[in-house]
Amino acid sequence: MSPTEYLNHHRERNLEELSHFLRIPSVSAKSEHREDTRRAAEWLAERMLEAGLHSAEVIATGGHPIVLAEWRGVPGGETVLVYGHYDVQPAEPLDEWTSSPFEPEIRDGKLFARGSVDDKGQVYLHLKAVEAHLAGTKQLPVNVVFLVEGEEEVGSPHLAEFLESNTERLRCDAVLISDTTMFAEGIPAITVGLRGLAYMEVRVQGPTGDLHSGSYGGAVVNPANALAKIIAQLHDDRGRVAIPGFYNEVRQLSGDERQALRDLPYDEETLREQTGAPALGGEAGFTVLERLGARPTLDVNGLLSGYTGEGAKTVLPARAMAKISMRLVPDQDYRTIEKLFADHVRRLAPVGVTVEVEALHGGHAWRAQPEGPVFDAATRALESAFGRAPVHMREGGSIPIVRAFQNTLGAPVVLIGFGLPGENAHAPNEWMSVDNFHRGAEAIARLYEELRPAG
Ligand code: BES
Ligand code: MN
Ligand code: MN
Repeated sequence: MSPTEYLNHHRERNLEELSHFLRIPSVSAKSEHREDTRRAAEWLAERMLEAGLHSAEVIATGGHPIVLAEWRGVPGGETVLVYGHYDVQPAEPLDEWTSSPFEPEIRDGKLFARGSVDDKGQVYLHLKAVEAHLAGTKQLPVNVVFLVEGEEEVGSPHLAEFLESNTERLRCDAVLISDTTMFAEGIPAITVGLRGLAYMEVRVQGPTGDLHSGSYGGAVVNPANALAKIIAQLHDDRGRVAIPGFYNEVRQLSGDERQALRDLPYDEETLREQTGAPALGGEAGFTVLERLGARPTLDVNGLLSGYTGEGAKTVLPARAMAKISMRLVPDQDYRTIEKLFADHVRRLAPVGVTVEVEALHGGHAWRAQPEGPVFDAATRALESAFGRAPVHMREGGSIPIVRAFQNTLGAPVVLIGFGLPGENAHAPNEWMSVDNFHRGAEAIARLYEELRPAG
C-alpha cells in the first residue's frame, strides 16, 4: 500500500485517535491541568511508538514535559525535525461554545474542539504521515525527529535551553512546523514571516482600598481613569504606535515586497465579514495584508478595574490593570521594545497613582529565506496534495521559538500550515477542517517522498 492509500484507508481511525488526543484538556496556562498536560504528553509518546518510531521519551523540564521521538533508519542520511505543541489555550468563555471544548464534534466538515487546529490536529497529521510510510515499507527516506512541547502557549519558557543543551542530539537538516494556516480554503501556503511579540502587564494603584465614588470622587485620582488615559495615548490619530523610538528598527517593505502582497488573491471585505467587525481599522497608509504581516502593532489584550457585576455600584476602584501586547517585525528587538514601552508608560503616569510595568514574555520576529531543497520539496508536495501551488505568506501571529531553531540548530525552518482563516484559534468554537487534516497528512507523506535522494 502506498502512503497515500494507507492514509485514505485509515481516515476514520485517524480522526478517532485525534479526537482522543483532543479530549485531554492539556491547558498549559492553568496549574489545575498539570496532570492532564502530562497525560497528553504520555498519550502522544505511546502513539509515536505505535506509529513505528524507534523511541519516544517524555522529558521533564522545569514546566510541562517535552515529547522527543526519533526514527533513525538512515544512518548518515539527512534528518528532518518536526516541531509542534500539544498544549492548548484555556477554553474560556465556556458558555460561548456550541459543543463542549473537550468533547470533539464534527459539524459541517469541521472538527470542533480546543486544540483541534492549534496545534494537536496539525501535530497528529505529521505523525500519521510518518506512520503511513513506516507501515508499508518500514522505511522513510530521511531520519525523523519529533519534538513536541507542552509550553508553546505560555511562551516556551524552557525550550530554548533544551535546544541549547541538546544541539548534538537534535542536529538536523531542516525543521518542519505545522502551526500556521493556509492562505485560504484550497490555497496552500508556506509561511515566510512571523511577527515577534512583547507582552506587558501594567498595574495602576491609587488609594489603598476601594472608595465611595461620591465621597471621594473628584479629589482622589481614579486608577481606572488614569489607565484609560495612558492607553489612549499609546496610538496617534493615524493608528501609529506613539511610543518614542518604537519604529526605529522597523524594516521597510520594498516595492517588490509590497507588490508581492498586492498580487495575493485577497479581499479585505471577506476579513471584515469573517470577524463581524463593523469596519476594519489600523495604521494609515498600509493595506490589510501589510498591517497584518509587515507592520508592528499594539493591542490591549485584557483590562480589569472596578465593579463589573450586575447593576450599578458607585465605587472609585483602588487599582486597575491592563495586559498589552505588541506584535513586532524585523529588526525590532523585543527587549528594546519592552524598555521603550515601560519608560513611556511610566512617563505618562499622572500624579496621584503609582504605575508598575512588567514584561511577561517576548520573542523576535522571523523571516524565511524560502529557497533550497526542502522548500522545493514542500512546494511540490503541497501542489500534489492540494492541486495548487502554495503561495508565500506572512503570518501576523508569533512562534517565538522558530528563531531559536534557526540560530541554535542552524537549520532552515519550513512552516507549512493546514489551518484556515476563521478557525477560531484561542477563541470559542475552534475548529479544524476535516478535509485539511487528511490532505495535510497526505501532503506531509508526499513531502517525505520528495526528499528521497535521487537514484
Ligand atoms: N499557532 C500559533 C501561532 C499562530 C498564530 C499561527 C496565528 C497562525 C496564526 C501559536 O500557537 C500561538 O498562539 N502563538 C502565540 C505566541 C505565544 C508566545 C503565546 C501568539 O501568536 O499569540
Ligand atoms: Mn500553535
Ligand atoms: Mn496558539
